[in-house]
Amino acid sequence: MFQEIDWDKIKIESEPPKEEPQRQYYFMAKCRQFTKQFKAEHGRVPMAHVQNYGCQMNARDSEKLTGILEAMGYEITDSEEADFVIYNTCTVRENANNKVWGRLGYLNAYKKKHPHMKIALCGCMMQETEVIEKIKKSYRFVDIVFGTHNIYKFAELMHTALQQNDMVIDIWKDTDKIVEDLPVERKYAFKSGVNIMFGCNNFCSYCIVPYVRGRERSRKPQDILREIERLAADGVVEVMLLGQNVNSYGKTLDEPMTFAQLLQEVEKIEGIKRIRFMTSHPKDLSDELIEVMGKSHKICNHLHLPLQSGSSRILKEMNRHYDKEQYLALVAKIRAAVPNIALTTDIIVGFPGETEEDFSETMDVVRKVGYESAFTFIYSKRTGTPAAVKEEQIPEDVVKDRFDRLLKEVQRCSAARAEALTGRLDEVLVEEVNEQDDTLVSGRLGNNFIVHFPGSRDMIGKIVKVKLKECKGFYYYGELAGQER
Ligand code: SAH
Ligand code: SF4
Ligand code: F3S
Repeated sequence: MFQEIDWDKIKIESEPPKEEPQRQYYFMAKCRQFTKQFKAEHGRVPMAHVQNYGCQMNARDSEKLTGILEAMGYEITDSEEADFVIYNTCTVRENANNKVWGRLGYLNAYKKKHPHMKIALCGCMMQETEVIEKIKKSYRFVDIVFGTHNIYKFAELMHTALQQNDMVIDIWKDTDKIVEDLPVERKYAFKSGVNIMFGCNNFCSYCIVPYVRGRERSRKPQDILREIERLAADGVVEVMLLGQNVNSYGKTLDEPMTFAQLLQEVEKIEGIKRIRFMTSHPKDLSDELIEVMGKSHKICNHLHLPLQSGSSRILKEMNRHYDKEQYLALVAKIRAAVPNIALTTDIIVGFPGETEEDFSETMDVVRKVGYESAFTFIYSKRTGTPAAVKEEQIPEDVVKDRFDRLLKEVQRCSAARAEALTGRLDEVLVEEVNEQDDTLVSGRLGNNFIVHFPGSRDMIGKIVKVKLKECKGFYYYGELAGQER
């Protein structure tokens, strides 16, 4: 992992190094010259804003962008009215793209009044050819555009953009490269996401992720464990291991290792008190993993197990490689091995060809499993995916009606699961002072439910025992009942 660097020792007068990450350190040092000069001219350091869209993996990438900007000498701000703004985009559903196009109009207006401003776009949306064409044609005010495979080159691209006025575009089709040891600035002091793999090989027929994130690549276990050890030494108590399909971790390594084996190694790291992971594909969830979860003292009693649809016919069309019965059998096996496990899921409504009967199978699984919570999505047609060219796209009003019925059922299940724990004592990792009421703090149980209870700022980052006094649907009001662990 990144360690403090003495920037003054980097020889910026000589040629840039060829190897990474030294090459990027060189360009960060070069950009520091610019921020110093900016300060001399304006009497303040330049401000930068990083806007993240999309999943936890993008959020982790945004922490890297933030770390690199800080290394370059920028100060980070929550406001888009900044000297540098970067959007780390998502394209999993059409509305994710629409948000970005909408915000860009606003940024353009601000830039017209502040011409020195630089705007950058990166992330999944930039891996789509049509998006790049549109930017080149209609969004000429954007300064830097790069994709998911070369995010590590941010400092180098920034350096080029600071030297010239033309748009800098660098998009790669794919990569097998993983660059370690870049600066990273965590959003929370006490918890952190940790990438264990990149990309996805599953090609679910509705999903654009394999096209924009490329082929599956696992990080070496030594690199992951070294990063977590450093995080623990820096005060992190909870890690979330991240990948599109963590259950297939390690298959492509020179010395293959299973995800369950990796978890056991993470468990040994002193200082780490909670381990979470995301996302588990049901088709690859092994008995070994279930056994490790059952025995572990640190892995949280929560499993996110995306269902997508309860209809075996639709699941086949989705290329998910499991059917309704297999999914329910898996849930039964997990529930038996890991008592009190909370199950959450993702469900898509309105996949092409979905009939009322298919939809009722989804409702049936939701009732049978009784999820603690579920993310429900309206199917969004993604250009280039096999499902996009299917003829039987479902009319909007039908989808909306199904979506509303599903949401109601999900909320009912979720409230019932939460209600069942009322009155219990449980451990909470305190995350923040409550935004609405500063006499309260808010934190999460191992099962991911949120609890608000009277407390103070000094409890942030600590694990405390709390009595769950009152259930409010998907969160609780509680009362402190024990000391930190
Ligand atoms: N790798 C994870 C999911 C990543 S995308 C997994 O396989 O579980 C997160 C969620 O977005 C998916 O689980 C799916 O429910 C939803 N999603 C993906 N593509 C979608 C699309 N085209 N329309 C609607 N929802 C979609
Ligand atoms: Fe998309 Fe499927 Fe890969 Fe998840 S597993 S990212 S849904 S293709
Ligand atoms: Fe979105 Fe890319 Fe994640 S498309 S969901 S940000 S992998």
